[in-house]
Amino acid sequence: MSYLSTDRVEHHFHDVVIIGSGGAGMRCALQLADAGHRVAVISKVLPTRSHTVAAQGGINASLGNVLSDHWLWHMYDTVKGSDYLGDQDAIEYMCRAAPLLVRELEHQGVPFSRLDDGRIYQRPFGGQSREFGEGGQAARTCAAADRTGHAILHTLYQQNLRAGTHFYQEYFALDLITDDEGCHGVLAWDIAAGAYHLFQAKAVVLATGGAGRIFKVTTNAHICTGDGGALVLDAGLPLEDMEFFQFHPTGIAHVGPLITEGVRGEGGYLINAEGERFMERYAPTAKDLASRDVVSRAIAQEVREGRGCGPDKDYVLLKLDHLGADLIMSRLPNIHELALRFAGVDCTKEPIPVQPTAHYTMGGIPTNRHGEVVTLDAQGEERVVPGLYAIGEAACVSVHGANRLGGNSLLEIIVFGRACGNRVMKWLTAHRYHTQLPADCWQPGVARVERWLTKSGGTGQRIAEVRRAMQEIMQTHFSVYRTHEVMAEGVRKLEALSDALAAAQIEDRARQFNTELIEALELENLMALARVTAACALARTESRGAHARDDYPERDDEHWLKHTLATLTEEGVELRYKPVRLRPMTVPTFPPKKRVY
Ligand code: FUM
Repeated sequence: MSYLSTDRVEHHFHDVVIIGSGGAGMRCALQLADAGHRVAVISKVLPTRSHTVAAQGGINASLGNVLSDHWLWHMYDTVKGSDYLGDQDAIEYMCRAAPLLVRELEHQGVPFSRLDDGRIYQRPFGGQSREFGEGGQAARTCAAADRTGHAILHTLYQQNLRAGTHFYQEYFALDLITDDEGCHGVLAWDIAAGAYHLFQAKAVVLATGGAGRIFKVTTNAHICTGDGGALVLDAGLPLEDMEFFQFHPTGIAHVGPLITEGVRGEGGYLINAEGERFMERYAPTAKDLASRDVVSRAIAQEVREGRGCGPDKDYVLLKLDHLGADLIMSRLPNIHELALRFAGVDCTKEPIPVQPTAHYTMGGIPTNRHGEVVTLDAQGEERVVPGLYAIGEAACVSVHGANRLGGNSLLEIIVFGRACGNRVMKWLTAHRYHTQLPADCWQPGVARVERWLTKSGGTGQRIAEVRRAMQEIMQTHFSVYRTHEVMAEGVRKLEALSDALAAAQIEDRARQFNTELIEALELENLMALARVTAACALARTESRGAHARDDYPERDDEHWLKHTLATLTEEGVELRYKPVRLRPMTVPTFPPKKRVY
């Protein structure tokens, strides 16, 4: 039976299609559905399995419930944390909105942990200060124990069910329907039924999360395969700042699951094989609560210099038993369980083995602070792609710049999920009708699947082998410390591997619930993002935030205070650059200066 005919493609019409059901997609959907729009959320998983569910430590807002605070101090910390690569207008917008939107979450039903007087509990997190670094540590991270993402995601899902959002679960997005006028929908694959669906919409929002699975050891779920970024590259549009990938200092050694920064916020600390609190040497003031790039580099340095723990001396220890079992079981119960399951450690009695672990994609689909996808025209001017939006980890607003502060990712998804919803509403008032699409607009997406299901005569290399090789290359050549030589070799290996993927085959040719097919499609996406990440990293000849080069150890504001934009063409990765937005909306600029913690 041929699938290359229109009667095999089911056609749906919505006002808005949101791809991805994590916190960003859900928050955006809620804004739109509550306003009466016909909203579809397409997700390749059951919505409450989206990766937001794994976010642990909390969401930042300058509520000042525990220690005095101000949104401007939050803004300062975020700009400094970003190593001055963050766009200051977007950062101001996010930090100002935070208190209002966290209280809104509280009213929507998020079961935050409480202080004795009933207000939301807030814990210290890395890179937080008061009075622009002069007033000591802040406590800005609003927590629901160590399951904050879980609490937010479930609450938003329930609110969306109330609001009448349409969920299409276990649908895989194959191709954006775009033309010179913008984006008009998406072709998707119903994983269970093995069938094509064309979702036509007046606006399409990409909320597909990060791409942590380009690395071998990651805190990210298997579903974090950069699907939205790959759709955008495939549409000929750029990704921004992909060289900046965050390594979380405390993933469980060798296996990756996240041990929240909240452990250090509650008073836990890192020690090396000699039992030394080594962070005192690297960040004399903030110590274990320096920003993530600083702590990850410190751990990597301890390991390099032979002070790592274990038979291979390749990890350090996170000590928290001194906090007492009562505190651990009330504020960090999930950590207790994860340490037990993945490291065989009872953290009320022993320290947890940890090492820097690939955690967060700070680059992504370039957007402005309204969630509109932007690109550069031939003259180098920024222009909006009509009808196309991106939010959450998939997007690069850019509020995180070269290094994200813990607790700002849950905040970003809420702030820009809502902002994007509002901007889409404006678009919908001016664009009331669906575009007439060409009859064969679905063909590229269909061809993407049929190629795998019908292909023969390839090298026979299995998808899992190619994926393992890609993750190994990224882990070895694009890790915490980078050099030209090591990265250039990584780029060469990746390009060769990308050819191997083009020649690979799958064995399972079934249409219904073919998980090997989905893995093949996901690997295509991952490979595109890995190639772009590698090329961007090789090109940036400075050290900034998470991009730390032994051969260029200093930040170079004269040449590199700019965003990278990468497109993927037949010839390979092409790079362009655009300036950082140093001007906030209403307050003076925080000018770049040396970062010390
Ligand atoms: O450490 C954590 O709980 C992670 C939080 C974050 O990435 O924002």
